Amino acid sequence: MHLSPLQSRLAASFIASCLLVVLYLTLFSPNLALAAELEDAPPILFDDVDSDLGSPLDPMYEPEFAAFDRSILGRRQVRDTNVLKNNEAFPLNVVQGVTERFVFELSQLSEREPEVRSLELRDEDHTWEEQEEDEEEEDEEEDKDDLNDESLDTEPVDSNSDSAEQKLGKRKQGARQIFLSANTCLQPQAFNATKTTQPPPQLTLYVSTSTDNVEPGPDADSNSQVAMVFNEGAIMYNFTTTTDVYVGVHAPNVTEIFDGPYNMKIAISTDGYIYSYDVDNDADLIWVDSDSQGALLITHNLTDSNDEKKQQQIMEAPPYVLFAQDKSDPSINGVKYSFCGLEQYAQIATTKDGKYSNMVQTGMTTRGQGNFPKQQFFFSGLKPSTSYLGILAKTNATDPGSPNPVGGGGHVFKATNFQTKSGKLFSRDPGSNQVGTNAQELIQADHGNCNIILNLTFCDQVAYSVPSNSKFGNASVLAKFYDDYAAEAYGYFKKALAQIPCEAPVTQRYSLTRNCSDCEAAYKDWLCSVTIPRCEDFSNDASYLHPRAMSQPFPNGEMLDNATMSLYAEKYGDGKTLGKAFMQSRSSRIDEFIKPGPYKEVLPCDYLCYRLVQSCPSSMGFGCPLPGQNGFNSSYYIKNETNGEVVCNYPGSAHIFSGSSRDAVSVALTVVVLVLVSLLLAC
Ligand SMILES: *[C@@H]1O[C@H](CO)[C@@H](O)[C@H](O)[C@H]1NC(C)=O
Ligand SMILES: *[C@@H]1O[C@H](CO)[C@@H](O)[C@H](O)[C@H]1NC(C)=O
Ligand SMILES: *[C@@H]1O[C@H](CO)[C@@H](O)[C@H](O)[C@H]1NC(C)=O
Ligand SMILES: *[C@@H]1O[C@H](CO)[C@@H](O)[C@H](O)[C@H]1NC(C)=O
Ligand SMILES: *[C@@H]1O[C@H](CO)[C@@H](O)[C@H](O)[C@H]1NC(C)=O
Ligand SMILES: *[C@@H]1O[C@H](CO)[C@@H](O)[C@H](O)[C@H]1NC(C)=O
Ligand SMILES: *[C@@H]1O[C@H](CO)[C@@H](O)[C@H](O)[C@H]1NC(C)=O
Ligand SMILES: *[C@@H]1O[C@H](CO)[C@@H](O)[C@H](O)[C@H]1NC(C)=O
Ligand SMILES: *[C@@H]1O[C@H](CO)[C@@H](O)[C@H](O)[C@H]1NC(C)=O
Ligand SMILES: *[C@@H]1O[C@H](CO)[C@@H](O)[C@H](O)[C@H]1NC(C)=O
Ligand SMILES: *[C@@H]1O[C@H](CO)[C@@H](O)[C@H](O)[C@H]1NC(C)=O
Repeated sequence: MHLSPLQSRLAASFIASCLLVVLYLTLFSPNLALAAELEDAPPILFDDVDSDLGSPLDPMYEPEFAAFDRSILGRRQVRDTNVLKNNEAFPLNVVQGVTERFVFELSQLSEREPEVRSLELRDEDHTWEEQEEDEEEEDEEEDKDDLNDESLDTEPVDSNSDSAEQKLGKRKQGARQIFLSANTCLQPQAFNATKTTQPPPQLTLYVSTSTDNVEPGPDADSNSQVAMVFNEGAIMYNFTTTTDVYVGVHAPNVTEIFDGPYNMKIAISTDGYIYSYDVDNDADLIWVDSDSQGALLITHNLTDSNDEKKQQQIMEAPPYVLFAQDKSDPSINGVKYSFCGLEQYAQIATTKDGKYSNMVQTGMTTRGQGNFPKQQFFFSGLKPSTSYLGILAKTNATDPGSPNPVGGGGHVFKATNFQTKSGKLFSRDPGSNQVGTNAQELIQADHGNCNIILNLTFCDQVAYSVPSNSKFGNASVLAKFYDDYAAEAYGYFKKALAQIPCEAPVTQRYSLTRNCSDCEAAYKDWLCSVTIPRCEDFSNDASYLHPRAMSQPFPNGEMLDNATMSLYAEKYGDGKTLGKAFMQSRSSRIDEFIKPGPYKEVLPCDYLCYRLVQSCPSSMGFGCPLPGQNGFNSSYYIKNETNGEVVCNYPGSAHIFSGSSRDAVSVALTVVVLVLVSLLLAC
């Protein structure tokens, strides 16, 4: 069969609409009507979740401190110096105003453990000048006669020796690189939380390697010690030494405002940090989408290797845990970089026995561009219209005595912000002339008309909010509705494609560079994003969003009022009326069965259409409207570098902050091709 080329720039969406009308007529199914009567499962409310813990939203809520030894509190007056063992965490309460002391004896290290000297030999091309620059910075703080060296990764470490010769001389005595790290697990709590918005001040770490100062602390000689204040409940410090290490941890005295001791874990290792954090690099966690009570987040690709064995191995064990917190709740302030602090104070934790962990489903997925393994976190039971922090963390070794203790105390990554949708249906301040802003009169409804769907069989890349209505069914029912719809349309496309000689010798094919697999893939990407609209609250006024189904009633039966209609008519129409593209959904099937009522759509990215035209035989008659042409504005949006905003929908779209220039180039190319296509079609 030869499909006659359609005249002019026929929108590809028109083809789909035709297919869908056919579908609708042939496949109208009474099952769907049945499904429409299904009641949604009741939403999980925050407070129902776990009665034992009390709600973290409750002002009386107090985290449980059971894991820590209160008995230490008893013996304040005589403080022994605690002995730190290599690679062993030391948990301890530190009472306000008190300095706890620790010693790390080098003699405990076995002969076989690598000395710094052996590392140095591999690092000869590093110049001493580089080190000396570093030394100057450190000189004010520390004046010990320890020995300095390069770490394995050739980064200069703290350094204060006088000359290279001296270093070489001392190295023979067996200098050790020391990684000292600590986490604040508990911090004093304000007597009156309404008076204090600040968290308690941080602990301070003092380190001495001089036998003249075996009790470092606020009262000791500052020339013989290094002092460092914890950062959000965490500290990391590395240096090299030939002598025993003396450590003091001082808790500030703020007993007038804050009650209780600090509790912390400290560890010294010659292998690496037991506790660590990294908030300089980009967050490893990406916010994909949310609805009024849920959110979907994924990690970056955990590997970019195509080796199946390696991928399978990674897929077996999700490596991360996640902490989440309502941003308006200050409980984690002061311990945001501390793994054990987050365990204690974060509202939601996916750790073993973590708080409210049943609000988060986590697992591995290969969804997204490149289909590489990543871990995903799917929240439910969140509060509507709320900003959250998601903090990814990782522990290396969970078994005690594991051969690799480095990172065993936990590594904390940079936090990612995410928001839930409003959960309120459209509402408008009657006194205001603005469209859809700041509700005074809230039209109460259960929870919005956007719902996240995922785990689709055919549109396997879809994982975002779609127009919904709780009367239609739960998320699984909704997902199946959209997925079946797309899969059926794809069936028609495959029949049409079967008429094209795909398997023919290259010279007889429709293109030298594209084959039928490319066409199928491009069609699927386009089809899924066109038939499964990405949904935003109707009250969201972002300029890239397209209002839909404005003539339809909301799930609670309310309609948009005339004043709102005229405001939108002025903004998008001729001032009096609005076109079909605004009054209805893109596909009538959505209005017919789901009946979401007014919502806003994140339009598919324009490149999905261009790629379809490029990849498929021109005899199939696909074309795309170009920017400025009729129909473009209500069909596509131009993909652009964005600052974490999803301005258009594409497979794997998410709130990604770092842009790439590759997309700009490919769009430019497709535009050239398109001009050609539309010239041909016009003939
Ligand atoms: C902390 O300060 C209070 C008064 O400000 C004082 O009574 C108390 O003894 C101090 N505690 C310590 C351990 O210094
Ligand atoms: C806490 O401080 C607020 C404001 O100063 C005051 O109104 C309230 O009574 C205080 N509560 C307690 C328990 O002291
Ligand atoms: C040691 O500390 C310095 C900063 O003082 C840092 O630049 C370096 O990366 C650290 N080395 C390691 C191995 O973490
Ligand atoms: C995964 O890798 C692919 C291919 O390199 C890339 O396009 C995609 O953006 C990556 N995904 C994430 C979440 O980093
Ligand atoms: C876990 O151990 C590996 C191997 O020693 C190390 O490379 C990695 O940095 C550690 N991870 C963390 C989070 O510390
Ligand atoms: C999605 O599928 C995965 C694996 O099949 C499963 O673990 C997860 O619970 C599903 N999530 C939802 C929301 O259905
Ligand atoms: C959703 O509804 C369907 C049909 O009533 C039911 O079979 C399924 O178990 C429900 N799924 C969830 C996750 O509640
Ligand atoms: C189509 O071309 C791609 C490369 O562009 C190739 O990987 C694929 O195997 C080809 N498919 C067929 C059916 O020839
Ligand atoms: C809104 O407009 C419709 C038709 O344009 C009209 O029938 C209706 O009375 C109007 N409602 C109000 C409250 O003005
Ligand atoms: C499409 O939108 C742009 C800006 O969003 C506007 O300038 C243009 O006039 C619109 N085109 C049509 C045909 O409505
Ligand atoms: C892309 O984004 C930049 C800045 O974010 C903006 O100036 C530009 O107009 C945008 N381009 C298009 C085509 O929307």
